[in-house]
Amino acid sequence: MDSFEFNKIAGAFLLALLTTTVIGYAGNMLVQPKKLEKNAFAVDVSAVAAAPAGGAAPAAAKPDPIAPLLASASVDGGKTVAQRQCASCHSFDKGGRNAVGPNLWGVIASSKGRVDGFRYSQAMQNSAKQAGDDGKWTYENVNAFLVNPKAYMNGTLMAFAGLRSAQDRANLIAYLRSQADTPVALP
Ligand code: HEC
Repeated sequence: MDSFEFNKIAGAFLLALLTTTVIGYAGNMLVQPKKLEKNAFAVDVSAVAAAPAGGAAPAAAKPDPIAPLLASASVDGGKTVAQRQCASCHSFDKGGRNAVGPNLWGVIASSKGRVDGFRYSQAMQNSAKQAGDDGKWTYENVNAFLVNPKAYMNGTLMAFAGLRSAQDRANLIAYLRSQADTPVALP
């Protein structure tokens, strides 16, 4: 290969390189790509950001007092709710057996975790040691528990999502009250 031949090959190569470079520049000039300021697809991360660290249940707002609804609550309506929502885990009759959850005869106004021989969670045992009414199932404590068990008692074993309807809760609590040797006075 003489030097002329070599120059031709090298020249062709350089020309090819130059052409691609020029085309690249020209292309960019024609199209003028812009960097997006935002992602074309917005990814909503607010739910992730809002979740508290450690996966703890978000603290529930305190429910409205149930007392005003109790006076006119329906025991029969409460029985229906109990059979639908609670009976898979609880019995309500006197001397009824413990199932996944403890028997609930006489639960209103009793101490939390009151059934001998039922294995309560540590959370329930700790809650029972709270001073005054906090260690008892007052009407309002039961109400708060039933709205959202895990928010009221972080670590409870009661795997129940909660009863949103205040009327259902009032009826249910009226029924719980009736399932006792001596129903506690209404608040
Ligand atoms: C999936 C099973 C399950 C369902 C459904 C359920 N519970 Fe429970 N419940 C439990 C368990 C388990 C406990 C004990 C919780 C602990 O030790 O932390 C409990 C505890 C309780 C207590 C406290 C009892 C005590 O001795 O201190 C009450 C009151 C109660 N449940 C009411 C209800 C009512 C009312 C319903 C229906 C709306 C209901 N539960 C639905 C499993 C359940």
